[in-house]
Amino acid sequence: MSPHTPDTATTTRPAPPTRPPLTPTRPPLTPTALRTVVRELAEQPDQWIHHVRLSTEERWYRRLVAEDDHEVWLISWLPGQSTGFHDHGGSRGAFAVALGELEELSLGGPEQGLLIRRVPAGTARAFGPEYVHDVRNTASGPAVTLHAYSPPLGSMAHYDLRAGGLVRTSEEGPEQW
Ligand SMILES: [Fe+2]
Repeated sequence: MSPHTPDTATTTRPAPPTRPPLTPTRPPLTPTALRTVVRELAEQPDQWIHHVRLSTEERWYRRLVAEDDHEVWLISWLPGQSTGFHDHGGSRGAFAVALGELEELSLGGPEQGLLIRRVPAGTARAFGPEYVHDVRNTASGPAVTLHAYSPPLGSMAHYDLRAGGLVRTSEEGPEQW
């Protein structure tokens, strides 16, 4: 056998099976793009008002859009309902308040401590993949919000705020949504 003769043992080996990609083919949307998505949707109540329900058990939520690179949820909140501190499993996100008003808590740097923001109707917040916050309806009436995540949420961890900072307490996945 000359050194240029192909090695039939390797040239006849079947090609490995091709696998579908494990990650979305499209790159994730930026927080700014997600904010535009929820802002524009919040201004079109005909697209979501028929999905709004109010539940005394917990926040009411419904997924409105499920694409491979992002998803959009509608959430309605009665007074006193809140998320607790949570992350978004590495997804970027944004939310817009369409009706009512929410309060958002997050931890700033060592100099800032706990930040509390009012998020009234007509405004939106956007955040990166590491963001942790607690969103609450501390107003006297219900609220309706639109939320977009990219990539779609794969998990969500919950945290307790203690004297030393945020402590991770649990994690949930889409099967709980
Ligand atoms: Fe969140």
